[in-house]
Amino acid sequence: MTTPQHLEDIFTPDEDAVLQLRGVRVHRGGRDIVADVDWTVRAGERWVVMGPNGAGKSTLLQIAAARLHPTAGDVAILDEVLGAVDVFELRPRIGLSSAQLAAQVPRAELVQDAVVTAAYGVTGTWRESYETQDRMRALGLVSAWGLSRLAHRPFGSLSDGERKRVLIARALMTDPELLLLDEPAAGLDLAGREELVRQLTELAEDEAAPATVLVTHHVEEVPPGFTHALLLREGGVVAAGPVAEVLTDEHLSTAFGLALTVTSTDGRYSAVGA
Ligand SMILES: Nc1ncnc2c1ncn2[C@@H]1O[C@H](COP(=O)(O)OP(=O)(O)OP(=O)(O)O)[C@@H](O)[C@H]1O
Ligand SMILES: [Mg+2]
Repeated sequence: MTTPQHLEDIFTPDEDAVLQLRGVRVHRGGRDIVADVDWTVRAGERWVVMGPNGAGKSTLLQIAAARLHPTAGDVAILDEVLGAVDVFELRPRIGLSSAQLAAQVPRAELVQDAVVTAAYGVTGTWRESYETQDRMRALGLVSAWGLSRLAHRPFGSLSDGERKRVLIARALMTDPELLLLDEPAAGLDLAGREELVRQLTELAEDEAAPATVLVTHHVEEVPPGFTHALLLREGGVVAAGPVAEVLTDEHLSTAFGLALTVTSTDGRYSAVGA
């Protein structure tokens, strides 16, 4: 007996997949800005996503964050299939830090409030007990990300680097099962970048930390302990897999359209023109 067509078409994600994309395509402005992407992030994995400007990294992250539906293809996030789930229930389970999100934080909002408000989606109704619990958690995150000094400053008065750290603390507020960071190191000075890499390395080592996806432009920003890499070019996948197999001269040169030599020392990468 053959399986009816409509049953064959139902997307069943892999059991250990936290995020799974199958044949995902996003069509905008007369072209595919994401083209036929297959990608699986499994529990415990830490991924870095790289590729030139306009390669589709942020678009892919918006899909992973349940904030954008693809034109075609299947997406499963945390065991839920996009299109068959209430995204407003799904979103609080996902921590997201991105420039788009930063633009949505009111300039007058105090740093500690910008972190704690991430919890409202989860708690739904406002109750005193939640307030205390959430405030405690927010304060802990504000301190862990070196923001105590800024807790009472309006978000709009912060430097770019300070804002990035607030957004990461905010992304972690709901204790998410999937953490998505879109260029968290952009705009940081050298010390700020190194501090962020150190904190992300610690996060990567923490078994209780959520599966993480980090978008970056620079191999120098890949935290040791990150396990996998996805390289994109013009919306398509150049390479995907374990970091050491993907961040090679050949794959990076293809992705960026420039001959590159990649070196790695003590888990840190660097790349220069060949
Ligand atoms: N609504 C739209 N209409 C037309 N093109 C779009 C639209 N939205 C995005 N694009 C294009 O899609 C491409 C991918 O954008 P995306 O923001 O995902 O790239 P990215 O890899 O994050 O780039 P960057 O490294 O600069 O952040 C870009 O060329 C962008 O101009
Ligand atoms: Mg981007």
